[in-house]
Amino acid sequence: MRIAVGSDHGGYQLKLLVADHLAAAGHVVDDLGTDAADVPVDYPDYGAAVGRAVTSGSAEVGVCVCGTGIGIAIAANKIPGVRAAVVHDVTTARLARQHNHANVVCLGGRLLGSQVALDAVDAFLAATFDGGRHQRRIDEITALEQATAGLSAAAASSHPTKERR
Ligand code: RB5
Repeated sequence: MRIAVGSDHGGYQLKLLVADHLAAAGHVVDDLGTDAADVPVDYPDYGAAVGRAVTSGSAEVGVCVCGTGIGIAIAANKIPGVRAAVVHDVTTARLARQHNHANVVCLGGRLLGSQVALDAVDAFLAATFDGGRHQRRIDEITALEQATAGLSAAAASSHPTKERR
């Protein structure tokens, strides 16, 4: 599987561990940064990069890591088509796939033990979407996303930027 990984400084160490683990399992890993734990960066840049890799098709799934997994998940979820889930263990990772059809898994590098994190990533990759009643809910989320995109476009065209004094 082709997998995009990304992190901020808070998730850097765990991201390396995950990337090595995935590569050793035979996956093709595309590391979209960041490249150091001691240089603070902004997690939205990396969440967006992983999200775009997934929605463009250059990666099948994404793995995001920041200190908690939360900020980078919020950012990734702003990319239309991304369903990024913060997971804490094997169970949340499996259900994120089976019920929520998540295509990006997000981890807290400052919260999770390394073996728990690796097991969670493995569970995420092994699980598949259950469909059925869950498909209807995913369709509702997609409709919300499209409606919001339409509203944003309408707002942008009906409220041209005014000069400020
Ligand atoms: C960075 O200090 C930290 O805020 C970030 O890694 C993440 O935990 C945010 O959600």
